[in-house]
This record gives sequence, C-alpha cells and structure tokens, in this order.
Amino acid sequence: MNLVLVGPPGAGKGTQAQHLVSRYGFVQLSTGDMLRSAVKAGTDIGRKASTIMEAGGLVPDDIVIGIIAERIDHPDCAKGIVFDGFPRTLRQAAALDTMLAAKGRTLDCVIELKVDDVALIARISSRFTCAQCGAVFNEIDKPTKVAGTCDTCGGREFFKRPDDTAEKVKARLWDYYRATSPLIGYYYAKGKLVSFDGMAPMGDVSLALDTMMTKMAA
Ligand code: AP5
Repeated sequence: MNLVLVGPPGAGKGTQAQHLVSRYGFVQLSTGDMLRSAVKAGTDIGRKASTIMEAGGLVPDDIVIGIIAERIDHPDCAKGIVFDGFPRTLRQAAALDTMLAAKGRTLDCVIELKVDDVALIARISSRFTCAQCGAVFNEIDKPTKVAGTCDTCGGREFFKRPDDTAEKVKARLWDYYRATSPLIGYYYAKGKLVSFDGMAPMGDVSLALDTMMTKMAA
C-alpha cells in the first residue's frame, strides 16, 4: 500500500507518518528530511536546496522528483511507502503517478490533515528535535517525559529548525496555498482523498487513521 500525507507546515504529517511506520511497517519518505540530510552532508543537492529551504521556499521540482525516483527503487520500499511532504506541486504529483505506474504500483490513498493557520504557527514555534535521533517534540503538546532528555534515544541535545520562525512559516504557508493546495482537488477528482481533522489531539488523529486503515484492509 502507498499513501501520501498532505497538509500545511506543522499539520502533523511527520508525526502521523511515524505512527504509520511503527504500526504498519511503512517506509517513510520525507522529502524535507532527505533535503535536510543533503544540506548537512554538503552534497550538490544540499548546496542548491539550502538557501531556498532557509527562506521557506520550495525546492525546484526536478531536484525533489530526482530524490524520490532514486529512493523508491530501494528494495525496502516494496513493503509500502508513506510519502510525507511529497508531492507538493501538481508537477510532482504527475511525476509520482508515472514513477509508481512504471513499477506496476499505485497510490492507494491521500490523507489530508486540516489545521487552522494560527494553530500551525503556534505548533511550529514550539517544535524541537533531538539532535541525535531526530525525534520530534513540542513544548506544549509533546514535551519530553524527562526534561532535557529524548524519550527515544536518551540524547540531551535538541535543536530548532532554521525555517521554524514565524516569518518563514508565513512564507511556507503561502507556498502551501499557492502550489500545494491544488493537489487537494487533483486527488479528490481521482477519488483518492480522505480528509482528517488535524486540530484533534495527536493520538486521536492516529486513531482516525487506524480506522481508515482497517476499512481499507477490509
Ligand atoms: P518539510 O520538512 O516537509 O516541512 P513542512 O511540510 O513545512 O512540514 P513540517 O515538517 O514543518 O510539519 P509536519 O506537518 O511534518 O508536522 P509535525 O508532525 O512535525 O519541508 C521543509 C522544507 O523542505 C520546505 O519548506 C521546502 O523548502 C523543502 N521541501 C520539502 N519537500 C519538498 C517538496 N516535495 N518540494 C519542494 N520543496 C520541498 O508537527 C509539527 C509540530 O506539531 C510538532 O512539534 C508536533 O509534535 C506537533 N503536533 C503534531 N500533531 C499535533 C496535533 N495533532 N496536535 C498538537 N500538536 C501536534
């Protein structure tokens, strides 16, 4: 089964992708995480993406499509993929359809997470990430169980993403409404879209996804 998670910055795509990975064994392909790794490693792609990401803009389609095309060929992806943050433009969506069709695979479902803009800005401003394992927390809704210690790996260093300032979130939101929101109509027309209330607590959103997964398996 192959799924896409779509929603504005801070909607909970990464959080729910992690739930789907741990519960159902999907492979999570997050273009944001892949690009951040490329920036950290100083690769050509990382150098091209770095300034754009820091400004809250969208990385060119060809770069992102190339990253996904290379990754979905890996054998682990055969067990099912949850795409997190990809596609983000109609061109990326068309490329994904082509890539999957070339492998005799299809996209089963597109999960839309709907969240108010004011809540998104609050969530993103309070997000922090473990520097050691990448686990994501939130000062308000998901603090670490022991202050200053990662629940997952015990790491004690955390960071905030450079694109998580209020000003850059506004640029990211603008790109979402301009370039990504047309995907909602695109997938609705294909009968693939399922929309969820992303304002609900994280656990409730995960439970709603579980109900959807049960229905899809029936
Ligand atoms: P990316 O990393 O994909 O960022 P994003 O889409 O802006 O999404 P976020 O990671 O900010 O949020 P999320 O929806 O995953 O929410 P999360 O679960 O973390 O992309 C970064 C950049 O890379 C882009 O701006 C662009 O430059 C580039 N890029 C990436 N993909 C691209 C593409 N395909 N094309 C072109 N450029 C691309 O949750 C957020 C916070 O809220 C967390 O602290 C979490 O704990 C908390 N939270 C989650 N759910 C809930 C809930 N239900 N209630 C309360 N709090 C919650």
